[in-house]
Amino acid sequence: MPDIPSLDLDPFSAAFFDDPYPGHALVRESAPVVFLPRYGCYATGRHAEIHAMLTDWESYVSSRGVGVTDYKTHPPLRGPSLVLETDPPLHTHRREVLNQVLSPAALRALRPRFAAEAEALAEHLAARELCCGIRDIAEAFPLTVFPDALGMGQEGRESLLPYGNFVFNSMGPRNDLLEASLAELPPLNEWVTRQSARGALVAEGFGTAIYAAADRGEIGAEEAPLVVKALLSAGVDTTVNGIGAALAAFAAHPGEWAKLHANPALARGAFEEAIRYESPVQTFFRTTSRPAELGGTPLPEGAKVLMFLAAANRDPRRWDAPDRFDIGRNAAGHVGFGAGIHMCVGQVLARMEGEAVLAALARRFARLEPAGPAVRRHNNTLRGLRALPLRLVPA
Ligand code: HEM
Repeated sequence: MPDIPSLDLDPFSAAFFDDPYPGHALVRESAPVVFLPRYGCYATGRHAEIHAMLTDWESYVSSRGVGVTDYKTHPPLRGPSLVLETDPPLHTHRREVLNQVLSPAALRALRPRFAAEAEALAEHLAARELCCGIRDIAEAFPLTVFPDALGMGQEGRESLLPYGNFVFNSMGPRNDLLEASLAELPPLNEWVTRQSARGALVAEGFGTAIYAAADRGEIGAEEAPLVVKALLSAGVDTTVNGIGAALAAFAAHPGEWAKLHANPALARGAFEEAIRYESPVQTFFRTTSRPAELGGTPLPEGAKVLMFLAAANRDPRRWDAPDRFDIGRNAAGHVGFGAGIHMCVGQVLARMEGEAVLAALARRFARLEPAGPAVRRHNNTLRGLRALPLRLVPA
């Protein structure tokens, strides 16, 4: 039986969030699977092992929680997600509804709307020399187009960000970050629950489409508000951090911006590369439902396994020059959107948002330069920034 290295590493600490890459390399290079005694869990940072886990939902289940807590032994802090934290067959019919509602065909009509919003944002930014890449772009754009597409009212949309912050903190241990998120949760939760109700949604939008699926009997009537809530939880902070990651990477790599400016059609591939390079969703867990073997390492039943998605996305076994941000690279196959049956159901929408914003900015601005130090935002699952001062130089 192979020895499993035990690493004294805290992947949910401020120091780790500030610079996760040495920790990722340590996990990845120590062995296919390591043990983290601090959390009593196993972990892997290799692409092949993570892909194997994601595509074997029978051995590596989500229903026992995709965070550090095993719901079989400890009650969840919040109601488990009706989509993310379920296994077939429960997962299957809810997922089928979302597959329809968020399919490329269903989203096609949104493309011109997203392009027009992105153009308007770029025009607005052209009137100022300096901006914050996070507040003025990465947050501003999804906070407009996503609630519009879902069919939400205008009131209180900014609450989506702290709510998502809570959801993604809740997958980590009960540290200061999670305590702070819990302290602000009650009014946010109340607001999100109200927004997920049928009466709060306009006729055109994903929300109403989910209720229509319930009317057709494809999901239960009582499930519909919770499926809407799953989208509100997963659909904003992720995209904000994806767009933020792309802007930060471009600010640090002016040559890559020059390529995008010369050819804005590269925007789609550039967004994909940013998701690989800086992975907004850094980690998810699975729990073994039975004894399993991962990369030749036996795992007992009931083991929590931490998947460092971000480490897999820079695994040199899978990628050439993985630490290089290269918008010409074929980034397909990264696990930034997951893989297998739980692979991000909002990925088409997320890509549409990222592509629209980057293309509009690339058309209008010759240079995108840092204009001060970036400030990191800490979250137990998400990687992103709180502030990114930028100077946008018009073409
Ligand atoms: C750049 C943006 C995004 C990233 C990086 C991202 C990442 C991910 C990842 C890694 C998973 C897999 C979770 C797992 O295997 O346990 C996932 C699932 C999911 N995502 Fe996203 N996501 C993004 C945007 C969105 C958007 C815009 C929506 C909503 C429209 C969304 C809704 C969901 C849902 C509902 C699931 C659960 C799917 C299932 O369990 O079948 N995501 N996402």
